[in-house]
Amino acid sequence: MTTPAKRVFNFSAGPAMLPLEVLEASAKALIDYNSKGFGIAECSHRGKEFDGVIDEAITRTKSLLGLGDTHDVLFLQGGATQLFTTIPMNFANGPVDYLVSGEWSQKAAKAAQAAGAKVNIVANTEASNFDHSTAEKDWKLTNDAAYLHVCSNETVHGHRLAAWPKHPNLVVDASSEFMARPHPVKDAALVYAGAQKNLGPAGVVVAIVRKDWYARIPKSVPGLWNFQKQAEAKSMINTPPTFGIYILLETFRWLEKQGGLAAIEQVNEQKAAAIYSAIDNSNGYYKGTVTVNEQRSRMNITFKLPNEEITDVMIKDAAKQGLVALKGYRTVGGIRASTYNAMPLEGAKALASFMTDFAKKNG
Ligand SMILES: Cc1ncc(COP(=O)(O)O)c(C=O)c1O
Repeated sequence: MTTPAKRVFNFSAGPAMLPLEVLEASAKALIDYNSKGFGIAECSHRGKEFDGVIDEAITRTKSLLGLGDTHDVLFLQGGATQLFTTIPMNFANGPVDYLVSGEWSQKAAKAAQAAGAKVNIVANTEASNFDHSTAEKDWKLTNDAAYLHVCSNETVHGHRLAAWPKHPNLVVDASSEFMARPHPVKDAALVYAGAQKNLGPAGVVVAIVRKDWYARIPKSVPGLWNFQKQAEAKSMINTPPTFGIYILLETFRWLEKQGGLAAIEQVNEQKAAAIYSAIDNSNGYYKGTVTVNEQRSRMNITFKLPNEEITDVMIKDAAKQGLVALKGYRTVGGIRASTYNAMPLEGAKALASFMTDFAKKNG
């Protein structure tokens, strides 16, 4: 197998960089799975090879998250968008609460409204272009809501909930921070995450569903979008993205080798600290776009330079040094450096040092 002579530090928000070890093991399995003479993408999803893959992927997900038998682990399709569309169809058996803190939680709230759910917005920071999320003490919660939906890390705006809220029926879109720190998944009713940030390629979305919730599902929900039916079919009502799920399995193996979620969190903290300190020590040359420091994301670090022209120069100069995909999302502008699990500490340090030099030269 050929490994590229040079892999750049790729700060893409997703699809994003994956650990080389995961890519190499997956590439090998794509060509020849366990010396069978065929690759893992070339065999039936109903056969014993893929059955072993999905069983191990479920077991490893549970063990990484410390989950018991209260929840099912599903590997679905249609991305996080399909999930925030189908969650209200399945589980909104009464008014639902949504925290609107950025692009993604806003889209989720709109999808719930479109699905006919009675949506109460507990707080909304759109007026300040989602530069933070409202403190939990100021949320206007409904008594006995069917659930509370939050996005734990807003990928576009670069902030996170430092701790997941406590709620008897909590739904979390954890797409851009899933498995980047330990999560209290066992206390949540439903957690979902698109794979293309921390776990694998686009095309797979992980859903973890508390089993007592199945009783809520209306009979009218079609099988493909029915979480209970998907759980009963081990996520295989239709042909699943078998190779994508295989790559996730390799990532779970890799994560365990790193020491699990608490260990990866420590590295993620160091990566984020290196870049935030380059921002904070730049005498105002770089300005973080998030206004509440304790909400700063450890995964998507967003900041601005004095103007968009110099931002373009920085993006080009950084790319020449192997630091790529730094352009911020169109509604925010500036820079977004995504430092998911696969970004080595060395990459974050290289960006921080580049930023310091760039500010000195241009400030
Ligand atoms: C937090 C969050 N939620 C939802 C989505 C939508 O994911 P998908 O495009 O896989 O539907 C994204 C995509 O970037 C995201 O970052």
